[in-house]
Amino acid sequence: GLPHRVTIYEVGPRDGLQNESGIVPVEVKAEFVERLADAGLTTLETTSFVHPKWVPQLADAADLLERVERRAGVDYPVLVPNERGLDRALQAGVEHVAIFASATETFAGKNLNRTLDEQFGMFEPVVTRARAEGLRVRGYVSMAFGDPWEGAVDPAQVAGVGRRLVEMGCGQLSLGDTIGTGTAGHVDAVIDACVAAGVGVDTLAVHFHDTYGQALANTLAALRRGVTTVDASAGGLGGCPYAESATGNLATEDLVWMLDGLGIAHGADLAKLVDTSAWMAAALGRPSPSRVVRALSG
Ligand code: HMG
Ligand code: MG
Repeated sequence: GLPHRVTIYEVGPRDGLQNESGIVPVEVKAEFVERLADAGLTTLETTSFVHPKWVPQLADAADLLERVERRAGVDYPVLVPNERGLDRALQAGVEHVAIFASATETFAGKNLNRTLDEQFGMFEPVVTRARAEGLRVRGYVSMAFGDPWEGAVDPAQVAGVGRRLVEMGCGQLSLGDTIGTGTAGHVDAVIDACVAAGVGVDTLAVHFHDTYGQALANTLAALRRGVTTVDASAGGLGGCPYAESATGNLATEDLVWMLDGLGIAHGADLAKLVDTSAWMAAALGRPSPSRVVRALSG
């Protein structure tokens, strides 16, 4: 069966804008976040407290959070890799943080400047302190389906990394297909491996990039397994600056179109999302890669 309701975990302001070649002005980012909240989205991953030299696109994290009027009933998670990032996030008054682990050795080095094993030592004090401060904590597992340097990634390896994050105290685990190579059968295999490792489906979220056009099919496969939190990016913006060949995320509008067709509740207003993504595409100077945005904003 399929769930009756899905939580859309919107990552456009973070995953979308972290990969822009130009730096989007902070007031445009703030308007983007406000418009997404106006469109009914209730989880908005707003920015990252990573090293500003590693991701200059999001160096304005504190400034952005000051400009956004944080609304009751809307959650504004941010990425935090280490204790320095957590300090900055706490200072900005965030209530929800996400750490981001790698399933592979190569990407741990490229994205975090750590070995696969060292990354846990970096995250552990972040999760412990965040929990002690009463924050919610999400854990990502990146390269959960394929890795541009290592190729196929063993689902048992992904599940092992995920299990360590859950044991550390992450309340939700987002399985990241960073480069979009996964297919629907592969989604089943990774979910099976997580369940076999003791990570329940109710703990899982899915995070698909649409590089190979598989994001919607993969999402449907995950919904059929009982996953109820789906990451998406308005207009299909996105990518990862440290992962070759990573392109945009599953577009929020494409997801909403499918959920509407399936009669699954989500709370978002498609027309407002399309307007927002058309506005952002104009601000960025290129058309949205989302098929639904293109079809409806013509
Ligand atoms: P490092 O160079 O090893 O850092 O980077 P360090 O711990 O050695 O510290 C070096 C200096 O940086 C120190 O300053 C720190 O204070 C400072 P010094 O003492 O020398 O003056 N520093 C910081 N400053 C501000 N904020 C911080 C911070 N941390 C250290 N947070 C680090 C290690 C993890 C920081 C770096 O590798 C980094 O920032 N990486 C982030 C990369 C990133 O953001 N990638 C994109 C997000 S992941 C993604 O997109 C995938 C996802 O979407 C899921 C999917 O698609 O699969 C989530
Ligand atoms: Mg991503």
